[in-house]
Amino acid sequence: MPGSPVHNRPPGPADELDLAGIRNDPLAFLTALAADYGDLCSHRTRGEVVWFVNRPDLVRHILKDNYTAWTKAGTPDDFMLTPLLGTGLLTSDGPVWERQRRLCAPAFRARQVEEFDTLMTDAAQDLTAAWERAAAAGRTVRVDHDFTALTLRIVADALLGADLAAAGPGFGRAVDDINRFIGHFDGEPTAPVQDEAFRRLRRSYTGAQTFLERVVGMLVAARRYAGPPVDRPADLLDAMLSARDAHGDALSDRELHDQVLTMVMAGHETTAKALSWTVHLLDRHPEHAAGVRAELAAVLGGRAPRAADLPRLELTRRCLEEAIRLYPPVWLISRRAAAKDVLDGRSVPKGTLVCISPWTLHRHPAVWDAPEEFRPSRFTATARQGRPAHAYVPFGGGPRVCIGQSFATTEAVLVLATVLQRLELRGSAGHPVVPEALVTLRPRDGLLMTPHVLADGGGR
Ligand code: HEM
Repeated sequence: MPGSPVHNRPPGPADELDLAGIRNDPLAFLTALAADYGDLCSHRTRGEVVWFVNRPDLVRHILKDNYTAWTKAGTPDDFMLTPLLGTGLLTSDGPVWERQRRLCAPAFRARQVEEFDTLMTDAAQDLTAAWERAAAAGRTVRVDHDFTALTLRIVADALLGADLAAAGPGFGRAVDDINRFIGHFDGEPTAPVQDEAFRRLRRSYTGAQTFLERVVGMLVAARRYAGPPVDRPADLLDAMLSARDAHGDALSDRELHDQVLTMVMAGHETTAKALSWTVHLLDRHPEHAAGVRAELAAVLGGRAPRAADLPRLELTRRCLEEAIRLYPPVWLISRRAAAKDVLDGRSVPKGTLVCISPWTLHRHPAVWDAPEEFRPSRFTATARQGRPAHAYVPFGGGPRVCIGQSFATTEAVLVLATVLQRLELRGSAGHPVVPEALVTLRPRDGLLMTPHVLADGGGR
């Protein structure tokens, strides 16, 4: 019957699919689904029809043009993240989200973020020094772990003015426990509870959650009492504390807590993965690595990079952008229809779950020439102009685009510039580097590399 949900179901496999099978290799599953059934297709799992949208204009429609018809409530991200993050910016919706976004936005403007350049490069220099020691000893390093510790330190320092490294290993370990649990969580609140290993993960998660609640609560209370720091630029916590909405109201303690935890959790793992994939790809593409080194030598001549250098670190930025095209740290974005909508002439019933995958979009053969190849030239100003904007969505799109986009890009380029002007990172022979789609897209077996000190010291 025309107009009925069943009739409107986009093409896709008729049989119900086993979620465990999809989870085995979601990237291969989504790639095959779009190849077999087209850019608007669907599958049925756990009794629900899930739509899959893989066309820039439809992505734009959902994320931007008609975004109020779409909600995050009831999506897999919501099940996974809300119990941990409460109603922070990442998980809230509707008017609550709008208010929070308005209050937080000023703290994330490029100008504000650039104030943290020294903090970012100082942290990157400490990591470089540690890797130089590893180079001297001929040791291999876990690049993905080290980048995660680095980005956690940077976001906590910039956001909270808190030196979490000095606070001991507790914070890093708690974040790790949480990521491990969320990585294995199956997104269904009612899923039957599993084996002893799962129960152990959940116990660690609960302990970590309590610990983080207390630490964040204490940091917020201390800042409220003592006021802004006197010896450094005001940080994001200050900006959030002093922000007022149109009615003159500030964020409540609960909101602040959820917000701070959201920023810490959303703001480090993704950037660490972006950095990991970039150094991996540069190792595989020595011609581009040499280009980046030449750029760093010409622009910096061995000194530490600053925000003012960013416009001239153009190839370094393009390598980052190309790396997160091929390996988008956020590989899946989902929404539910809060109201009826129409996609490509098909009516979408209210409540429909829709998925968008930066992984498949970024490899769409109709948009990208030789999509599997690493070509930083795709991100020159001219090349960008030839593409629909929503063909490239590593940071999402529309009003809910990543608020930390400038922060992440500034941080990643400054870190790359600091590390790569002193070191070459070479992949360990025989160690596989395979993407695994968990909460973020990560190298399944970690990223093991050996640092080598550059002979000319980066042009010094
Ligand atoms: C390379 C690094 C990053 C990537 C790839 C990334 C990716 C994304 C994506 C795809 C979204 C949209 C999700 C959706 O529409 O469902 C998002 C939202 C968000 N990100 Fe990021 N992110 C990164 C870094 C950061 C940083 C550094 C912060 C904070 C310091 C941050 C905080 C947030 C927040 C709060 C949201 C929710 C925004 C809203 O809904 O208004 N992210 N991010």
